[in-house]
Amino acid sequence: MAPAWSGSAEVTARIGVLVSGSGSNLQALLDAAADPWFPADIVKVVSNVPGVLALDRAARSGVATEVVDHRGRARAEFEADLLRALGDVDIVCLAGFMRVLTGAFLSAFPGRVLNVHPGLLPLFPGLHAPRQALAAGVTQAGATLHLVDAGVDTGPILAQGTVPVLQGDTEATLAARILTVEHRLYPMALRWIAEGRVVVEGGRATIALKTGESRWIGG
Ligand code: GAR
Repeated sequence: MAPAWSGSAEVTARIGVLVSGSGSNLQALLDAAADPWFPADIVKVVSNVPGVLALDRAARSGVATEVVDHRGRARAEFEADLLRALGDVDIVCLAGFMRVLTGAFLSAFPGRVLNVHPGLLPLFPGLHAPRQALAAGVTQAGATLHLVDAGVDTGPILAQGTVPVLQGDTEATLAARILTVEHRLYPMALRWIAEGRVVVEGGRATIALKTGESRWIGG
């Protein structure tokens, strides 16, 4: 069972990152955490897919890695193994992790599981958000950083950023443009969570300011 994390300016949060692919968001977090002033350390990276680039990125930064393959096993068993692999981390970051997690997993880290999604939620949840955006003909796309709840891409929104959809965009060119926003937002949102500044009320997140006021951060 993970220790309760209430956030602290003095204590560095221990972060576990779940990945399934290339790990460019993991790289953004590793780069941010290399700054001694960043309030979080990446201590474990777990992939459900063997051999992915994300595992190499973690190893290059000296972070422990593990593969927990989801194939051919019951979800409860897979999630129990993920929890074991994560160990005593305080916060879990999903970074291109392509499995849905149930309440059984999430209850081990209440309000402390973050996800990045390549769409402006609540529009285009689920798979292939850039493809969905192109199909819908929108002129603005973007990324969402949110806390994870038991729904699919439904948890409280921490931060969003937009990019234009350009003439001639393909799914690949749009996804690449959206990734640049993801890489900017993820370390920022992780900092807020690590410092214990995020308050969730009625499904909406606000960030506590040093003045004692709180500011809406959902937009
Ligand atoms: C990112 O665009 C992320 O938002 C998306 O997968 C990509 C992973 O890239 N995640 C999802 O679609 C989750 N439903 P990365 O492995 O280079 O960070």
